Amino acid sequence: MFKCVISLVILVMSKQNFAKNLIHYKCRGGIYPRSTVERFFVPDDKVCWKTQYDDYKPNCFNAPSLQGKPWADPDIDSPNFKPKWNMVDGKVNRSSHIGTYNIVNQLPQNPIGRTGICGRGVLGRWGPNHAADPVVTRWKRLDGKMVLDPNKKPILQFVAIKRGDSGEWALPGGMVDPGELDTVTAVREFREEALNSLAKTEEETAQWTEKLNTFFSTGEVVYKGYVDDWRNTDNAWLETVAYNFHDETGTIVGSMNLQAGDDAVGVCWVDITPTIKLYASHEEIVQTVNKKQIRIFESEH
Ligand SMILES: *[C@@H]1O[C@H](CO)[C@@H](O)[C@H](O)[C@H]1NC(C)=O
Repeated sequence: MFKCVISLVILVMSKQNFAKNLIHYKCRGGIYPRSTVERFFVPDDKVCWKTQYDDYKPNCFNAPSLQGKPWADPDIDSPNFKPKWNMVDGKVNRSSHIGTYNIVNQLPQNPIGRTGICGRGVLGRWGPNHAADPVVTRWKRLDGKMVLDPNKKPILQFVAIKRGDSGEWALPGGMVDPGELDTVTAVREFREEALNSLAKTEEETAQWTEKLNTFFSTGEVVYKGYVDDWRNTDNAWLETVAYNFHDETGTIVGSMNLQAGDDAVGVCWVDITPTIKLYASHEEIVQTVNKKQIRIFESEH
């Protein structure tokens, strides 16, 4: 359907792992998305707030389109806005997976460090913006038989969507709605983006609902924390919980026709290879899932 595998097998670039080093790369340098604001230069050794950087004078950007949006916070200086940082604030979860973040001049401070831009950019929330990402996997099969790689290992496939905005392949995740559990978000987004549940008939939906509910109750957390996302700023950033839903026999979600929906322009099963290139920190998440599933498979065979 789509040339996913080909487009994903792009030369591997040497890349540091933010999760280990706790430093970000994708939200530094260049023009901030959907704006004309250039990020202030932040060298690797000046990311950490504790490191003195006297010349640091970033521009601020607050997307005008956020004004009045029900899913977004008001402006930080709006008189009715009294956020409770580092805790569940009404229906909005303002606590971070990484720990307590600092409030500096009444603004939450990015816990990883400087990004070269202040304000909340295009993000709806000041401070953490919570997302959830489903990693739905199956083993690659041909005519019902498992396909093995040259090392006689099975090949894990996951559901990837092609993003409408950046054109990159990504996990079909999304933002956690106020008061929503992140497991619920992961499943809802998967249905909306990959199964195009919005376009399905009631009858079809009902047939699948039971099977899917059972399948999606098996999710395991594979990552929880900061996302090195290009929209992050000094005062707003993405965090996610990634769940792995694995269809061992390939008979549940593994047998479904995938359809792009919502803001995705393409969706397909993609082989996990050592060289796949994905949106933001989705690569690390997918590789973690791959290691986990191969390990389980080998221990059982
Ligand atoms: C709020 O977020 C934190 C971590 O960011 C999480 O541990 C906690 O379970 C969340 N609480 C609710 C009610 O969703």
